[in-house]
Amino acid sequence: MKVLVVGSGGREHALVWALHRSPQVEEIHIAPGNGGTDKLAKNVPIAAEDIPALVDYATAQQFDLVVIGPEIPLALGLSDALRAKGLRVFGPCQAAARIESSKAFSKDFMWENAIPTAEYHTFQDYGEALRYLDTHPAPIVVKASGLAAGKGAIVCQSQEEAQEALCQIMQERAFGEAGDTVVIEECLVGQEVSMLAFADGKTVAPMVLAQDHKAAYDGDRGPNTGGMGCYAPAPLLDGDLQQRVIEQVLQPTVDALRRAGTPYIGVLYAGLMVSEGGFHVLEFNCRFGDPEAQVILPLLKTDLVTVIQACIDGRLDQIELEWDNQNCVCVVMAAGGYRDS
Ligand code: AMP
Ligand code: GLY
Repeated sequence: MKVLVVGSGGREHALVWALHRSPQVEEIHIAPGNGGTDKLAKNVPIAAEDIPALVDYATAQQFDLVVIGPEIPLALGLSDALRAKGLRVFGPCQAAARIESSKAFSKDFMWENAIPTAEYHTFQDYGEALRYLDTHPAPIVVKASGLAAGKGAIVCQSQEEAQEALCQIMQERAFGEAGDTVVIEECLVGQEVSMLAFADGKTVAPMVLAQDHKAAYDGDRGPNTGGMGCYAPAPLLDGDLQQRVIEQVLQPTVDALRRAGTPYIGVLYAGLMVSEGGFHVLEFNCRFGDPEAQVILPLLKTDLVTVIQACIDGRLDQIELEWDNQNCVCVVMAAGGYRDS
């Protein structure tokens, strides 16, 4: 089988590595890939955001499977465009990807489906948002609704910080149009854990838990990033709580998206805040996490291609995921000045 992976990060390197292990895979291309993926796959110089070029390449090369790593192509509708050409794609359609690409959509979705999440308000008007801060004291979280590479959520410890965050997002437009809508929400405390699941449109198959560390600097300090390091499995939810996350978060999400006519096929990622025997959903992602993929995929003993094919064919209920009983750690080495430049 000939597979195309889309993306250029550590996550996509981990995906290529896991696909390469499969006896079903003969050839892997990755667009655009990186220096690491070069050893296992053919790097193709097409950006992950260049939807028309990716569609042309995928159809010309007749891939048996396309695996989409990052959120941007999913949000831009790459899955839909490839499926329209008859290709087999692992990654949700554009409408379902809104669980990540619009925090306003995602929060309303959680609220409507009784999925536990922080209380929130959505604003498009700067003045209104500022006035809301007057009556809602810090700590409080200010978020750009659109995609901002994990940097659009600002946890504010004082009212001044919250005003500053709002100004950055809505006036200075630090995240461009991602900040046209802002979500302001209650600040939750606890431990964060990522629970990812494979989804075939109706069934969910959870993966081992991972814990990502998001603060830029050592000692859990500094601004939020997309993730500076990760380990799995994370011992933060016992069996009962994991079952509750499946029943109260993952399954209702897949059920609601199916009812809406936008079945979710891909990886559903719930970022959770865990405290005192309970949990809230901080965010949904419509794909593997980075660096979560780097610590989860090496522990997956089941052939990744078999799992992906089952997702695409809607028969995930017929396979059992097997996990290696070991631990994985990923440390991110970043250039000086990260995350600003
Ligand atoms: P998000 O992009 O919504 O996942 O937010 C990124 C990060 O901001 C999360 O991983 C948390 O570290 C932090 N965060 C987001 N929402 C909240 C909240 N309501 N309370 C506390 N921290 C939050
Ligand atoms: N590590 C967090 C994310 O991939 O969104």
